[in-house]
Amino acid sequence: MNMIDIIDKKRKGLELLPNELNYAFNGYLKNIIPDYQMSSLLMAICIKGMTDKEIFELTDLFIKSGDKLDLDNIKGVKVDKHSTGGVGDKTTLVIGSIVASLGVKVPKMSGRGLGHTGGTIDKLESIPGFKTALSREEFINQVNEIGFAVTSQTGNLAPLDKKVYALRDVTGTVESIPLIAASIMSKKIASGADKIIVDVKVGNGALLKTREEAIKLSEIMKKIGGRYGREVETMVTYMDIPLGTTIGNSLEILEVMKILKGEENNYLVALCMALASKMIVMGKGISIEEATKEVQESITSRKAYTKFLEFVKAQGGQIEKLEVSTITKDVISNKKGHVVDMDAYKFGKLSLDLGGGRIVKDQQIDPKVGIVLKKKIGDDVFPGDVLCTLYISEKSKFDLNEIIDYYTFK
Ligand code: URA
Repeated sequence: MNMIDIIDKKRKGLELLPNELNYAFNGYLKNIIPDYQMSSLLMAICIKGMTDKEIFELTDLFIKSGDKLDLDNIKGVKVDKHSTGGVGDKTTLVIGSIVASLGVKVPKMSGRGLGHTGGTIDKLESIPGFKTALSREEFINQVNEIGFAVTSQTGNLAPLDKKVYALRDVTGTVESIPLIAASIMSKKIASGADKIIVDVKVGNGALLKTREEAIKLSEIMKKIGGRYGREVETMVTYMDIPLGTTIGNSLEILEVMKILKGEENNYLVALCMALASKMIVMGKGISIEEATKEVQESITSRKAYTKFLEFVKAQGGQIEKLEVSTITKDVISNKKGHVVDMDAYKFGKLSLDLGGGRIVKDQQIDPKVGIVLKKKIGDDVFPGDVLCTLYISEKSKFDLNEIIDYYTFK
C-alpha cells in the first residue's frame, strides 16, 4: 500500500477501505506521511466526499488515536455543545455560563479558529493567565465544582483530529461535510458527554453555505452519535451576517460579559437563549417553556454572569487584565441607505488579516485586534457615519474603502 495510490483512489471518487484510511491517517499522526500528501488527500476528500462507512471509520480512527475521557466521576447529567463555527460566534461562553448556573453540567472541549471562523480557545486565551489545556483531573474537578470547564484538545484527546484540523485550517480543506462530521463527533465522543447539542451554522459566514448541506451534516452526526450511544440534537442556525456586534478575541469576551449582564438584545442573544433552553430541556427533562423561563431568569438575576466570572477565575484568568488594542480606525460611510446585508465571510477574513486568526500553521495571533460593528442590518446610514471600528496593530492589513462594500445598502 502507498499514499499515492490512496490519494489517486479518492481523486477518482472511490471508497477507501478501513486499512487504507488507517494507513493514511495514522501514518500522518506518526509523521510517516508528510503534510503535502495529507493535504492532497484532504483536498480529494473535500471534492469527492466520503461514504457513511468511510466517515464512521475516520471518526473511529480519530477517537482511537487518543484517550477517551471517562466522565462518570461527574455527578449529574452532562450536556456538551458544539458549533460548526462562524464569524463572531461566542455562543459557547454565554451558553455554558447560563446552563451551568442552572445546575446542568457543561464539560466542553473547544477548538481554535478554523479558516475564517473564530475559535473559543483563542477567545479564552485573550484573557491573561487563562489556562486552556486542563489535565483530566482539573477538567473533571472543575465541572464537578462549578459546573462548567473548557479545555483545548490536549495531547491525548483525539490527537489525530487535532493534527488534521491544523492542516485543514491552512490548506483550504475546511469545508467538507465528512471531515467536519468526523472532526466534531470524534471530539464530542472522546470527551465523554452523555448528550450533545450541535449548532450547525449555515450561510455565507459559515463553513457550510446551504441549508441542504447543514441538514446532511446534522443527519450524519446523529448517525455517528447513535453508534456510540450518545443523544445528539442539532439546531440549524443562520450565519449570513456576523453574530453579535464584535469579531476578534478580546472584543468578543467583552461582548459575552455584556450579554450575560443583560445589556444586549439582538439575534445573537436570541440564539443563545434558544440553545441554552434546549440544553436545559436535555439536562433536566422539563418543558421548553419552563426551560426558557429559567434561562431568562439566570440573566436577570446575574446568576449566569457570576458563573462566567467564577469559570474564568477557576481556569486562572484575570479578567480585569483583558486588553483590546489602543490603535483604532473608523470605517466611515460615503453612502446613504438602509443596511440590508453584511458579508460575514468578508468580515471573518478581515479579522484574520488584522491578525486575529492564522494564515499559516502555529502562527501567533493577536488577541487585541478585531472589529466592532457599529451599524447592523436594519440601520439607516448617512455619509460620514461610522460603519465599524477596527482595532488594529502595526502589522494589520486592510483597505478602508473596500470594507464599506462588505455592507449592502438599499
Ligand atoms: N469544528 C470542528 O471541531 N471541526 C471542524 O471540522 C469544523 C468545526
